[in-house]
Amino acid sequence: MDSGESSVFSKDKGKSGDGAPSRILDFPFSLSEIAATAEEDQALGYAPLPFGQLPEDRAAAFDIYLKIKLKSALKPRFILCCPQGQIFPPEWRQKLQQVKISTVYFPVAEVNAVLGHLERRLEEDLESPGRSVLEKAILNYEVLEVWTRNFFSSTQDRADEQLDLSLKCIDGLLHLLGQEKVQRGFIFDIRRHDRDRYTHSLNVCLLGLAFVSHLHWHLDKARAFGLGALLHDIGLTQVPAELLAKKGALTAEERELVEKHPSRGYRLLKNFGGISNDALMMVLQHHENGDGSGYPQKMLLADIHPWARILRIVDSFEAMTEDRPWRLASPPRETLQAMCDDWHKSQIYDPLYLKAFIKFLGTL
Ligand SMILES: [Fe+2]
Repeated sequence: MDSGESSVFSKDKGKSGDGAPSRILDFPFSLSEIAATAEEDQALGYAPLPFGQLPEDRAAAFDIYLKIKLKSALKPRFILCCPQGQIFPPEWRQKLQQVKISTVYFPVAEVNAVLGHLERRLEEDLESPGRSVLEKAILNYEVLEVWTRNFFSSTQDRADEQLDLSLKCIDGLLHLLGQEKVQRGFIFDIRRHDRDRYTHSLNVCLLGLAFVSHLHWHLDKARAFGLGALLHDIGLTQVPAELLAKKGALTAEERELVEKHPSRGYRLLKNFGGISNDALMMVLQHHENGDGSGYPQKMLLADIHPWARILRIVDSFEAMTEDRPWRLASPPRETLQAMCDDWHKSQIYDPLYLKAFIKFLGTL
C-alpha cells in the first residue's frame, strides 16, 4: 500500500476514548480501500449489519468487524473493530458516519446473538415516542434484512420459531402503513438496491405490504401475504450464484435450472406450520403467467392463486425498477407507462389487480 495515502482514522492512532486498544486505528487504510457496501461474504464467514443497528450505550453481544479491501487483493479482509463485551466507541461511530460507511459485519456463527440484539432493539425502539415513522420503518426493514439473509442462507435445518422475528417486522411495517395520515410513499425512501436476492425479496415484501394495506386487507391476511412475498424466491438459494449473475443469455439447461426455483422454494417451506397455504401458493406460482406462458406449471389466469397473481405484478414492478446484472433499472415513469400499455396487452397479469396496482402507485 502507498504509505503516502491519508488514512481515514490516522489522526487518532493509539487509544480510543475509553482506553481500550483501538484496533481499527492500527490499520491506516485509505477511504477508497474500505468496502462500504454489503456484498455476499457468507462464504468468508461474515454477514453485514446496517450501521444504524449497532448497539448504542451497551456492550456488544457479538464481535463487530469492518470489511477492508486492498486494491491489490482479490478478497476483502475483515478487521475486528469492537470485540464482544465492549461498547462501540461513540467517536468511531461518528467517523464511520462521516465517511458514509453504512455497513459493519459480524461473524455468521454469532447470528443468534445479533438477532437477539435486534429483537430487543425492535421492542424498545418501536415503543419510543421519539422515533419518527420513517425511523421505525427503517428499523423494521433493516432487522428484516438481517433475518432474511440468515434464513435464506442457513445451512442448518430451518425451524418454525425462526419465523417469529420476521412476523414481528411485518406486523411493525403493517402497523406503520395502516396509520391514518401516513403517506405510504415512505416505502420508496427505505428500499435498498444492493443488487442481491435478499434486498429484492425485502423490497417486494415492502411494496406488497403497502399494496394490500391500500386494499384494506385484514391484518392476518396481510401478514400471511407479506411472509409469502418475503420468501417467494427462497428456491433461488439452490441455484448457483454465477448463473443468477450471468450477463449473457442462459443456455437451455441453465434456464431449466433457474425455472425450478418456485417448486424448490415450495418444497423447502411446505412443512412449516407458520406459513399458510395461500403463502405457499405465492412461492410456487409467482412465475405463472395468465396466458399459460409461465412456469413451472404453465397455468392459465383463472387457475393461478389470486395472491400469486398480485405477487407477479409487484415482483415485476420491483424487478424493472432495480438494476440487474444485464441491464439498468427502468425509471418509475417509464415502468408505469409499460404497465399501462404492454402489461395490459400481454395477458400475463391479472387485469383487475393490475389496474388496482397502477391506481395504488398513483397514491404514493
Ligand atoms: Fe422468482
